[in-house]
Amino acid sequence: MTQRLADAAADVLRRNDLGHLTVASPELYPHQWSWDTAFIAIGISRLSITRAIAEMASLLAAQWPNGMIPHIVFDRPSGYFPGPARWRSDLALDPPPVTTSGICQPPVHSVALSCILLEARRRGGSDRREAEEFVTATLDRWLAWHRWLAAARDPDGTGLVAIHHSWESGMDNSPRWDVPYAHVRPGRMEPFERTDTAHVTDAAERPTDAEYRRYIWLVDQMVATRYDEDAIRKTIDFRVADVFTSALLALSSDILAELATGFGRPADAAEMRALAGRFRAGVAATICPDTGLTRDKDLRADQWLPTLTLGAFASLISGYGDPLGRQREALLGPDWCGHAGLRYAVPPSTSPSAPQFQRRRYWRGPQWPVMTWLFGWAARWHGDEELAGRLREESLRQLADLRFAEYYDPLSGEPLGSPAQSWTAAVALDWVSTP
Ligand code: SER
Repeated sequence: MTQRLADAAADVLRRNDLGHLTVASPELYPHQWSWDTAFIAIGISRLSITRAIAEMASLLAAQWPNGMIPHIVFDRPSGYFPGPARWRSDLALDPPPVTTSGICQPPVHSVALSCILLEARRRGGSDRREAEEFVTATLDRWLAWHRWLAAARDPDGTGLVAIHHSWESGMDNSPRWDVPYAHVRPGRMEPFERTDTAHVTDAAERPTDAEYRRYIWLVDQMVATRYDEDAIRKTIDFRVADVFTSALLALSSDILAELATGFGRPADAAEMRALAGRFRAGVAATICPDTGLTRDKDLRADQWLPTLTLGAFASLISGYGDPLGRQREALLGPDWCGHAGLRYAVPPSTSPSAPQFQRRRYWRGPQWPVMTWLFGWAARWHGDEELAGRLREESLRQLADLRFAEYYDPLSGEPLGSPAQSWTAAVALDWVSTP
């Protein structure tokens, strides 16, 4: 089975490969997405180091001069909405070198750098040389990305990254954002037509039309400022401290610090270690004393947002401290992986015990293999081999359907969203390649 899974996953990645980059999925997401690219490169590194590096390089080519890595790179026409005409990245004060969206996604890129480097060093020879040269040549660009996030999205040094759109969290319609979105009331706006629902079996697997109106309203608000971060901060209707993205910034900064040390850059290493400490502390400060779980914060309403979603487990990503034990226990407990109704014991995006749980709708319930991989990888990084092993074993059972779906119904195990999703194939390939 392992070989069949590896072959099928590699086949999906090959079919989604345009030659210079791999699209996130064949129909629903026909472009390059920022955090998808990192996971895709991790999977591809098991096939070709050269190709994995090309993924990362093509994303970097779209980095904005201010350091932001945009969440979508549009390098060809397609029916995807919102496309370049709505995003208007050309209007930015700091226009990007290629056409992109105007927001970012979670900083998981140094996880990919570390995985690619590990695999390249295991192979040795020209692979090793190529990967080391790539890190040497691009380290400044990855550092600039982290510095931008810290400066532009946490100007007050709170240790939490502010997001201006839920697409920046990657978890678009998670219940994490229900309260802040309740305050977003779109006014008159250019009409638009969604295209995403045409690419899934059932429109109920995607966000609702009311949610999409808010999503596009926020895009229009940003375009109106020509992507001036200071103006956006003052005018945007949605501004939330995202605890999960903050945890990823902490983890990724630790990794960048390690890379900087290994590549003879001690000052950058110290800076990244300080950044990691700042965001780890920021995550820890969100913990609810009663539950031990992490929370987002609505910055416009100055209000904590406790939810039974993956956002409650941010310390398992950023690491350390006593609460780590409580979050681990909760994750494996009866409201999460240990829930009696689950087909596979991996974390659902929203707890089946939560009133907002919807088993088929995007981030409101389904299990996302890429998220399970992330929790597993972070567990291993923090020394929890046991948790990493459990998540891997259960995921390999889930992925044995060879569909590589974007997400799965946690109760029935049915594949949902886009089939042949590149990042699902990528993490499957990584899991089968790692004992
Ligand atoms: N996830 C969004 C979509 O569904 C965009 O990032 O299109």
